[in-house]
Amino acid sequence: ERCKGVNGLEKVVLREVRGCSAEVYLYGGQVMSWKNEHEEELLFVSSKATFKPPKAIRGGIPICFPQFSNLGPLEPHGFVRNRFWSIDDDPPPFATTSPNKAFVDLILKLSDEDFKIWPHRYEFRLRITLGPGGDLMLTSRIRNMNTDGKSFPFTFAYHTYFSVTDISEVRVEGLETIDYLDNLKNRERFTEQGDAITFESELDRIYLSTPTKIAILDHERKRTFVLRKDGLPDAVVWNPWDRKAKAMADFGDEEYKQMLCVEAACVEKPITLKPGEEWRGRLEISVVPSSYCSGQ
Ligand code: BG6
Repeated sequence: ERCKGVNGLEKVVLREVRGCSAEVYLYGGQVMSWKNEHEEELLFVSSKATFKPPKAIRGGIPICFPQFSNLGPLEPHGFVRNRFWSIDDDPPPFATTSPNKAFVDLILKLSDEDFKIWPHRYEFRLRITLGPGGDLMLTSRIRNMNTDGKSFPFTFAYHTYFSVTDISEVRVEGLETIDYLDNLKNRERFTEQGDAITFESELDRIYLSTPTKIAILDHERKRTFVLRKDGLPDAVVWNPWDRKAKAMADFGDEEYKQMLCVEAACVEKPITLKPGEEWRGRLEISVVPSSYCSGQ
């Protein structure tokens, strides 16, 4: 179902039989809502978010490409999060077809302006699927279409903003003993020592070569998000806390308590694609009652 969202921006609504739903904005190719069967919102979107291109929308699942953060010459997090995507009416067959699933295929069409910013030809296809149990899946396929023989490197992230009840009661599991670069300490390298990540101040880290499964336990709501990722070795964990929250114009001063970004990413070792080569990066998120996860 295609309709108008905030500020008249076009969106596609995906629905599942039990009542779960997801909304995808063509602006940014960005998932902006994901609800369970009780119609509870699972993603965080700031009440201060501006839905005004060319600014990126604060919340949901922005896509960072071709550059994560400021690790290169482009604008931070690249530019596809503030481009208009199109519905791809003729997608090539995906390895996993999606019977009984609601999905939408998007494609990013390059403009001459984009080519000036990053002089490479590529096809970026994005499939967003809402599975029968309400699981959310994002698959990106990026193909180098350069005709001048040039390879290109890129970094990438699904910059997912999760909605949580109280950040000080949240634990992230699956990153124990993993090395990370601390963005708050000049990207110095450390090793995670705790048996889970908990939050009591600003945190901004790039965990390197992580397991494919990461869990976010929301103790208050007795709910656990389980992330599974493929093709994306790293994971960024970010909460701005109070000071940085105040510094962001499109973010409420207290909203850091109700959100957490855990981003399936490829940052440390950029992907390099030769002409004709394709890369795939996949993120799957499900929600389970917390008791199911304990002890795992
Ligand atoms: C995170 C970065 O991924 O995104 C943080 O690790 C950054 O350093 C945050 O502050 C938000 O970025 P932006 O560009 O959306 O304000």
